[in-house]
Amino acid sequence: MAYRHFEFIEKHVWTLGILTAIMVSLGGLAEITPLFMEANKVQPADGVKPYPPLRLAGRDIYVREGCYLCHSQMIRALRFETQRYGHYSTASESVYDRPFQWGSKRTGPDLARVGGKYSDAWQRLHLMNPRQVVPESNMPNYPWLSKATIDGADLQARMRVLRLLGDPYSDAEIAAAPKDVDGKTELDALVAYLQGLGIDNEPPVKAAGTATSAAPTAGGAR
Ligand code: HEC
Repeated sequence: MAYRHFEFIEKHVWTLGILTAIMVSLGGLAEITPLFMEANKVQPADGVKPYPPLRLAGRDIYVREGCYLCHSQMIRALRFETQRYGHYSTASESVYDRPFQWGSKRTGPDLARVGGKYSDAWQRLHLMNPRQVVPESNMPNYPWLSKATIDGADLQARMRVLRLLGDPYSDAEIAAAPKDVDGKTELDALVAYLQGLGIDNEPPVKAAGTATSAAPTAGGAR
């Protein structure tokens, strides 16, 4: 009996196509819908706060300049990744990243925990002309960053929009933003952003042990 139904479906290509599409859609819904629900449940990890004004400005420059085209900010839960870069990335440390900068393209190294790895002076030289500090680098120069300054009013508008989206900026923080970025260049902002990566938002597990020893629990590397 059932066999005859199958035979009918297999011999009628449109029926087969439509039924296949229905089944794939149902399967897709069952897999994807719960992920949307989960996304709203992700809470900021301890110590993860919305970006302070200068770093927020730096983040926007990072996005504008397309740094993500060569750099990921996502350390995978694999031993060779955590040994090189530090604790693997978690969703709860990126809740205030809009859009998040995880990515997978790595012409250059991952930057998720680059904060504090070099001095501010190194970062400045490197952004102006990477070959001053890394002779074999193929990263582009960004000399215009040292000339443009940050617009405080524009930054306040951005903070207000982020607050609408749920970032807990206070009125006082927004009011103080222009003072924080007064006279700062885009280079200052970008360096501040880079120097905070993986410092302010480091997952708390790090405190319990070294980054590398914490990794295998989630990576299944053992
Ligand atoms: C064309 C690809 C490319 C682009 C675009 C690019 N980078 Fe790089 N970046 C590299 C490469 C390759 C390296 C490794 C060599 C070096 O240190 O210069 C690197 C290294 C770095 C490092 C040092 C990382 C470490 O752990 O040693 C930082 C910080 C950095 N880039 C920041 C940036 C920022 C910020 C931008 C955007 C303004 C940017 N990069 C754009 C390719 C790129």
